[in-house]
Amino acid sequence: MAAIVDIVTVAENENGTQSRAVPASVRLWRDRIDTRLGQLIRADEQACPTLVEAMRYSLMSRGKRVRPLLAVLTALDFGRDPQRLLDFGCALELVHCASLMLDDLPCMDNARMRRGKPAAHIQFGEATTTLAAIALLNQAYGVIANSDALAEAIRCRLVAQLSEAVGTAGLVSGQSRDLVERKRGVDSAGLRRINQQKTGVLFELAVVGGGTIADLPEARLKILNDFAGHVGQAFQSADDLLDCQQHCGTTGKDSGVDVEKAGSVHQLGEDTLRERLIGELDAADAQLDALGIDDSLLKNFVLSLFRRLLQGSRPQ
Ligand code: IPE
Ligand code: IPE
Ligand code: MG
Ligand code: MG
Ligand code: MG
Repeated sequence: MAAIVDIVTVAENENGTQSRAVPASVRLWRDRIDTRLGQLIRADEQACPTLVEAMRYSLMSRGKRVRPLLAVLTALDFGRDPQRLLDFGCALELVHCASLMLDDLPCMDNARMRRGKPAAHIQFGEATTTLAAIALLNQAYGVIANSDALAEAIRCRLVAQLSEAVGTAGLVSGQSRDLVERKRGVDSAGLRRINQQKTGVLFELAVVGGGTIADLPEARLKILNDFAGHVGQAFQSADDLLDCQQHCGTTGKDSGVDVEKAGSVHQLGEDTLRERLIGELDAADAQLDALGIDDSLLKNFVLSLFRRLLQGSRPQ
C-alpha cells in the first residue's frame, strides 16, 4: 500500500489544510450504521430508563464507526450485499463502545471526555456506566444471533468468533495487560501483543466477517485477518501519537492519558512510533495486494482514515 505509507508524510506536511472528501459509499454506509444503531437501542418497557439513556448517550455520540465500516467495505470489495452484515457490524460497534466506557473509568484510564462530550461516568456515574457497558456488550451477541440476513451456521460462527475476540485471549486481556504490564514495562513484542488484543481483534473480526459472507476460502480469510491486524496496530500507534500531540478539541477525548505507561510516545519517542506505524501500514498493504482487489474500497477507506488522523483533523 505504497500510497497509504506516503500519506504519513504527506498528511503531516498538509497539516490539516487539504482534507479530502470521504468517499460517498463510506458516508452512505456510515449513515445506515448510525440509523441501525439508533434502532437497536430502543427503550423497551422493562428496561431501566437511566440505563438505556446511558447506553444511547455513549453509542450515539460521534464515533468514527471504523469497525462496522471495515465489515461493510470488505463485503463490498468482494461484490456482496453489505446489508446482510449491517447488524454484525453494529454488534462490533456495541462492543467497542462498551470497551470505551470502561476504558474511561477512574479505575482504568481515568478520562473525562469521550467523543467530544463528558465521558459516560461523568454524566451518569460509575455504577450506571459499568452496567450500561455490560448491557451493550451483552446485546452484541443477541444482535448477531438474531440477524435474519445471515444463515444460522454463519451466525453461530460469528458469535463464537466474537466471544474469542472479546475474551481472555482478546480485548479484555489486552485492556488488563495495558493496565498491569505497561505499569512495569513492556518490550516491543509485549506492546504489540497488547495492541493486538485490545484493538486489533475487532479490526480483524470486522474484515473476517465481511470475507465470511463472501464465502472466501480459509487462506484468503487469513490474509484479510493479517491485513486488519496490521491496520489495527497502525491505528493504535496513531492513537498513541495523538494522545501526546493533539488536544481534546481535535480528538474529542482527553490528551496525555497514557503518557505514564510503558511504550507511550513519552518513552519511545515520536519517531519510533511513527516508524512503527509506517511499518504496519506497509505490511497491511502487502496483504491487501495479495488479495488482488481492483480499486479496493477498503484501501481507500484506510487511506482517508489515516490521512485524517495524521492531519489532526477529526475524521468526518
Ligand atoms: C478509540 O477507538 C480506541 C482505540 C482503539 C484507539 P476509535 O478511535 O475508533 O474511537 P471512536 O469510535 O471513533 O470514538
Ligand atoms: C483503548 O486504548 C482501546 C480500547 C480497547 C478501549 P486507549 O485507551 O488508547 O483508547 P482511547 O485513547 O482512550 O480512546
Ligand atoms: Mg486505555
Ligand atoms: Mg483510554
Ligand atoms: Mg489512546
